[in-house]
Amino acid sequence: MTRFYIYLLWLVVGLNGLAYESWGRGSQCDEFYNSAKASPVVFQNAFETSRILGEYAGGLVVRNVFSQKSFIRDLFQLRPEEFYIDFGTGDGGALESIYGSGRDLDVEFKMRAQIMFSSLNLREQQGWTRLEHAEDALKDRLRGASDRDLEMMYRLAERPFQLKPNSVGITYKVRRVIPETDKMKLMKDRLFEDIPDEEIPRYKLASSFFGVFSYTKKVSDVLFKALSRAEPGARLYIYGMNFMVKDSLEKPSVPLETWLKKHATGIKIHTPTLPNRGVIMIERTSEALSMPVLKFLKQVGEHETPPKYIFLRTSDIHN
Ligand SMILES: C[S@@+](CC[C@H](N)C(=O)[O-])C[C@H]1O[C@@H](n2cnc3c(N)ncnc32)[C@H](O)[C@@H]1O
Repeated sequence: MTRFYIYLLWLVVGLNGLAYESWGRGSQCDEFYNSAKASPVVFQNAFETSRILGEYAGGLVVRNVFSQKSFIRDLFQLRPEEFYIDFGTGDGGALESIYGSGRDLDVEFKMRAQIMFSSLNLREQQGWTRLEHAEDALKDRLRGASDRDLEMMYRLAERPFQLKPNSVGITYKVRRVIPETDKMKLMKDRLFEDIPDEEIPRYKLASSFFGVFSYTKKVSDVLFKALSRAEPGARLYIYGMNFMVKDSLEKPSVPLETWLKKHATGIKIHTPTLPNRGVIMIERTSEALSMPVLKFLKQVGEHETPPKYIFLRTSDIHN
């Protein structure tokens, strides 16, 4: 019953959240945003924050001709003492799914479709006239995951509570009450950039689904900090990162993941060669971690979501 009320609250706040907030663009605001460590939308919380675990499962798959790395499979394989971190967990829908039951996953699917359908923006853009249209669109988002992956998601949900892995969700803002337990904790009200390293548990698996790694203006600081808390062999799946890097002002910019492959040590970058190109996976190797320090140079275009940022290499090194 309590869970029912939590869902109800989630629905109300979720609907509220999907409506874009208007925000004064006075000079004080501009000054704050220009010097801020992350994109303005993080402070406004003006984006989708209620994705469910199935959407993570569908998006976080790195598929190549001979291999496939799947977030949900890695999550399924975590041991009870190991940690999963969601860097930018929003309203914690994906996290909470791990600790409910298979039945809850079905309820969450319906609730999420309802939230999507209730968004005027989405309804107008997509021409949806019935709830089933939103349900079909949601099913599409799950389609990146194989039937086997989705079955693992249900099996994980049904696993006895104490045998599930530990999770931590990091979010600057949260719109609903998320019931924390000794298995699931939330770090909220602070930017990840401002959380002391030692507060971040050492983890085996992490995700950022349009999260911290899509909106930061301190990308190398954030990557270095997150990866220095990764256990050897840990995997960080990132979806929706629109960042480019220039080695110098005169040189052309290259995608951050391509640049990291060349310039960082202690990590291996996995990018898909087959569709689902929005995703990359970073695997922590046992070598010492290092990468050049990047500084924010500029934003390209005003309306891209997530923002397209260009960073410039400096002569300093994180190590
Ligand atoms: C677009 S929402 C996505 C939420 C969730 N992953 C989902 O798919 O529904 C971005 C989330 O990342 C969080 N976030 C972004 N940058 C952050 C930062 N630098 N520190 C802490 N949280 C951040 C926001 O507060 C928000 O929770």
